Amino acid sequence: MKKIKFIAWVLLVLMAFTACSPNAPTEQEEPKTEVEQKDESEVSEKADADNTVEKIKSKGKLVVGTSADYPPYEFTILKDGKDEIVGFDMALARYIADEMGVELEIADMAFESLLIGLETGKFDIVIAGMNPDPERNANFSKTYYNATHGVLINKENEDNIKVLDDLKGKHLGVQIGTIQEGIGEELEDVKLKSLPLITNLILELKTNKIDGVIMEKPVAESYAKVHEDLMVVDDIEWGSDTEGSAVAIKKGNDELTAEIDKIIDKVLEQKLIDQWVIEANELNEGANQ
Ligand code: ARG
Repeated sequence: MKKIKFIAWVLLVLMAFTACSPNAPTEQEEPKTEVEQKDESEVSEKADADNTVEKIKSKGKLVVGTSADYPPYEFTILKDGKDEIVGFDMALARYIADEMGVELEIADMAFESLLIGLETGKFDIVIAGMNPDPERNANFSKTYYNATHGVLINKENEDNIKVLDDLKGKHLGVQIGTIQEGIGEELEDVKLKSLPLITNLILELKTNKIDGVIMEKPVAESYAKVHEDLMVVDDIEWGSDTEGSAVAIKKGNDELTAEIDKIIDKVLEQKLIDQWVIEANELNEGANQ
């Protein structure tokens, strides 16, 4: 009798266990996901609200994310034995910080990490020669500068690469996560090498591991100016639907976007960008002599 009771009890426990266990995780998982999603949207709403112009002002600093491998937009020079990030994008960053009456902090990282950093609240804005591509998960300011894309090659290849068709069978480099990567992917018969930094690509080009690098034309020209063995192909040029550079702001943060637009209006009215481009080019050439 005792034994039967025991077996019945064991069976009951086992039944309860098998009945629960396969279902339990799924039953629990669903509401959990819902809660998690809710949490996330709450968090991002909070982060957006956190990042009002008022909050940036009371924090006393504007944190700007960039990828400083892109002269004359943003690049590093050695000043008094220390690395300094300069360029016309950084002049714009400084102007925006000044207008807001706050300090400027620049966070330098690979281009592909910038929008993630913006999303997670690592920086307030991103200024990195970024095209306002609607597929990017960000708000964009109005454009402050226009440029097309071109190819940087070794001078010794001058006669081999003159027009678009000459790129067939070639090995080209692009920076990960850029519009240029998309351009490269659409080219027929081209082998593509995607790397995190333009500086890595320049090295690959100079050591003939690749035949060319696609980048914004002013950047290609900057590199050609300071590397005598490199040149820009005149007759290869791409425009894009989303021409120009804009400041990226966290998706949904319309208040900060409107503030940045107002400041860019002032910059454009005074034609400051042209002046900053000249200064940036001088700094780049000076630093590389
Ligand atoms: N304009 C291109 C884009 O938006 C490339 C920008 C690369 N910028 C840089 N700082 N490396 O995708």
